[in-house]
Amino acid sequence: MIALGAVLLTVVSLKFCVITEQLYFFEVLTLIVVFSGGEAAHAVKRFTGLYTGPYFDPTTATNITTQLGTHAYLPCKVKQLGNKSVSWIRKRDAHILTVDRYTFIADDRFQAFLVESTETWTLQVKYVQARDAGQYECQVSTEPKMSHFITLNVVVPKIEIVGEPDRFVKVGSKVELRCVITQALEEPAYIFWYHDGQRVLKYDKSAIDIQLEREAPETTISTLVIYYANPEDSGNYTCSPSNLDSSSVLLHVLNGEHPAAMQRGKNSASPIPGWSHLSVALGLAACTPPRFAIAFTLTLAMISELISY
Ligand SMILES: *[C@@H]1O[C@H](CO)[C@@H](O)[C@H](O)[C@H]1NC(C)=O
Ligand SMILES: *[C@@H]1O[C@H](CO)[C@@H](O)[C@H](O)[C@H]1NC(C)=O
Ligand SMILES: *[C@@H]1O[C@H](CO)[C@@H](O)[C@H](O)[C@H]1NC(C)=O
Repeated sequence: MIALGAVLLTVVSLKFCVITEQLYFFEVLTLIVVFSGGEAAHAVKRFTGLYTGPYFDPTTATNITTQLGTHAYLPCKVKQLGNKSVSWIRKRDAHILTVDRYTFIADDRFQAFLVESTETWTLQVKYVQARDAGQYECQVSTEPKMSHFITLNVVVPKIEIVGEPDRFVKVGSKVELRCVITQALEEPAYIFWYHDGQRVLKYDKSAIDIQLEREAPETTISTLVIYYANPEDSGNYTCSPSNLDSSSVLLHVLNGEHPAAMQRGKNSASPIPGWSHLSVALGLAACTPPRFAIAFTLTLAMISELISY
């Protein structure tokens, strides 16, 4: 090996010394690097073995996605931590959240704990809120300090009863109310339906049924089926999953021969516009006297000014 190297070196140097001395030198350097490459890698490995200070496990996550309202766990895997401290810092406001197992923020949703078997200091964020999204820093108290950053993403599930918020159907027709939940990382444990505040139960499956389907990994659909709608089925229907907001529609069951009933239904469903007109009128009435008084005073002032000339 060395002999071959020497031969090569000689050949190369003979070739290049003709050109410039600098190039020759460069070539020799390159050869030395090539020949000692194997040994250098070996040296690096030995060095790693000797290093006794802390270092982050390269497999530690950097991007955690969690659902609004659930608990988030941000792992920080530190090898050879020794007696060093691990702190969690919120990047947004540089607030120190925890140092080892002590919490330094007046928000008891934040807590750090060590799982010794995996050498992982985990920051737990309970009941995650939208504003918790952002970067978090896991800092080890070495000199200088070492940091590992994790981004927390918060997904907000959406819930909707498909269609208009007011639903008009004829007596005797089949009604299907589809409640669609999307972007839910955690499937709701249950989805309840309420009719004017009363839980809807399917005592008689031929009259009322509730069907549940999980369409995509993050989509759940609950369908309330009324097979033969009666006027007393009218009212407010609310779809209420275990871990999310709810969604409502108003069902109006009409006697087919009276289209006017539809208009009535609409009006009784939204009494607010009438009230808002009234309150605007009241507001105007209340506003008028001072305005009138100001105008009156100004006019008087102008008149007295004119008179004084
Ligand atoms: C982190 O995860 C979220 C949700 O899975 C994804 O939308 C985003 O692109 C990821 N970011 C990075 C930097 O990988
Ligand atoms: C950590 O341990 C080292 C030796 O193992 C010691 O010199 C040092 O004082 C310790 N530091 C703390 C903060 O206990
Ligand atoms: C229907 O009922 C739900 C739950 O009681 C309520 O939050 C919602 O405002 C009601 N909707 C209407 C239009 O009355």
